[in-house]
Amino acid sequence: MPEATAPDLTAARPEAPPAVPDLTAARSNPKLANVLYHDWEADSYDAKWSISFDERCRTYARDRFELAAGAAGWPYGRALELGCGTGFFLLNLKQAGVLDEGHVTDISPGMVAAAQRNAKELGFSVEGRVADAESIPYDDDTFDLVVGHAVLHHIPDVELALREVLRVLKPGGRFVFAGEPTRHGDVVARRLSRATWEVATRATRLPGLRGWGRPADELRAASEAGGLEWMVDLHTFDPGGLARMALRAGAVDVSVRTEELMAALFGWPARTFEYAVNPQRLGPRWFWFSYRTWQRLAWFDAKALSPVVPAGLFYNALLTGLKPAGPVEL
Ligand SMILES: C[S@@+](CC[C@H](N)C(=O)[O-])C[C@H]1O[C@@H](n2cnc3c(N)ncnc32)[C@H](O)[C@@H]1O
Repeated sequence: MPEATAPDLTAARPEAPPAVPDLTAARSNPKLANVLYHDWEADSYDAKWSISFDERCRTYARDRFELAAGAAGWPYGRALELGCGTGFFLLNLKQAGVLDEGHVTDISPGMVAAAQRNAKELGFSVEGRVADAESIPYDDDTFDLVVGHAVLHHIPDVELALREVLRVLKPGGRFVFAGEPTRHGDVVARRLSRATWEVATRATRLPGLRGWGRPADELRAASEAGGLEWMVDLHTFDPGGLARMALRAGAVDVSVRTEELMAALFGWPARTFEYAVNPQRLGPRWFWFSYRTWQRLAWFDAKALSPVVPAGLFYNALLTGLKPAGPVEL
């Protein structure tokens, strides 16, 4: 595989989205909060998270899939993504040869439209439907593969969603969910990000460093948006609990892996720093440094730490399992 190219992150800076949505009406309705929040984010999402559909993100998506479920059986014939966002996972997996026919769903209409737009720009089309993962609008036994990235922690009833996943999978079909925050990893990441945000935004108010600051309205919008995350981020997971939930939903051959410890300790503050300061000041050398450092730490985590450090201390959980191939014996 060729080496991943560095992202052009200087070009992909998040523009402050127009106005932070008013989620007052959605305070006791997490699904509505998710629709409003992600519709609002849809057009700036790729820039905010440095999402692309080039070698870098293809490799990232394919490696996550392979870490969870191995490389046997590629390409899967008909695949569905839940909570597709702008298509980061499924479109990159398709480009990497992991799957063939793609279908994308999300509870946010803006996200489904963005994913379909991205697919079109890549030269293929994917079918898209606005759908709640707790009631997937497809017939039983439809898909060979169901995937999701950073979606389970937004769904109120994760076990119900997993039962739906098993219903729409063909017997023997596989599901793969990646990018789910572990309980411990999430606490550490949030604390580090908050501390980095405080330090960076205060420092850039000092005389002599003002040129490093972002415009006040952008900072306010970013900060307000961050303050809404508690309404859409509903869960963190402990690896054993996540596996048990999938088994209760009826899956077999379930496994949960975790990854990113040092990489997350570096990555979250780095990302927050990039978001808090004027991007023009950072320049391509910073982004190269940041990306390469993250890659090296992720490698160190996988090779040196993963065999000896408890799984729950890593940041990211990956879940896979199968729908039983035959009728379940009761
Ligand atoms: C953090 S984003 C991840 C998007 C994309 N998978 C990625 O990795 O870039 C979570 C996505 O899940 C969607 N979502 C939230 N709740 C959902 C639900 N109940 N059913 C389906 N999608 C949902 C959101 O609209 C959002 O697009």
